[in-house]
Amino acid sequence: MSEAGVDHVLRVTDITRPLEFDLSRPLEIEVGCGKGRFLTARAKAHPECDFLGIERMLERVRLFDGKCRRGGIDNARVLRLEALYTFHYLLPAHHARRVYVFFPDPWPKRKHHAHRLFGPLFLNALWKRLEIGGRLEFATDHAEYFETVRTCFADDQRFEEVEPMPRPPEVWTEFETMFREQGLSIHCAAWRSLPADDAPLAPLTIPAEAEPREGIARRAPRD
Ligand SMILES: C[S@@+](CC[C@H](N)C(=O)[O-])C[C@H]1O[C@@H](n2cnc3c(N)ncnc32)[C@H](O)[C@@H]1O
Repeated sequence: MSEAGVDHVLRVTDITRPLEFDLSRPLEIEVGCGKGRFLTARAKAHPECDFLGIERMLERVRLFDGKCRRGGIDNARVLRLEALYTFHYLLPAHHARRVYVFFPDPWPKRKHHAHRLFGPLFLNALWKRLEIGGRLEFATDHAEYFETVRTCFADDQRFEEVEPMPRPPEVWTEFETMFREQGLSIHCAAWRSLPADDAPLAPLTIPAEAEPREGIARRAPRD
């Protein structure tokens, strides 16, 4: 337990068991929350709401926890797990009023695009977790990824584009602060979820291993 009497790191002992939330309270989630500058400030300003950060880097999870302890924040938690898996399997249906994805890794090389968060699988799980009318707020410094994400949403009838939230310095994340200091342009957009057919999510599958390219020797199997 923390100094403030609350453990801010959500500890998962069984990753097949959905997480429990107080469904009488609104929930906001930040994917890849980093060190938590944005989410902890928002949690402090909105004690009526619960906040969940999802972050896979241990050191950043620790820093998020430290911010909560020092700030006496007891309505924010951080989970060290992969975001797509968490959205797909562990969150309650149609409960989050907002999801924030700020400066996700852009994986700029084409051969790495499969690592990007945004795609049909994430949009399926996102729609399932947002309350109807709930919002996704998105910001990035990467112009090409920004357009790709906009195309993803434009192709999905379950979302409509809405005005993004204002971005005064108080809401800047760690990366946004750094990028603005470097004079980079920031692209932001937001979408609202619409009523649609609420089909169950198909299980996530692991794509088959790619066939080895010609000229690249297969490794001999071990005995
Ligand atoms: C570029 S940083 C941005 C951090 C923060 N949003 C900010 O703007 O300061 C991206 C963050 O997302 C986390 N991340 C990337 N992919 C993730 C995933 N699939 N699941 C959970 N965290 C992820 C990384 O560890 C990293 O902290």
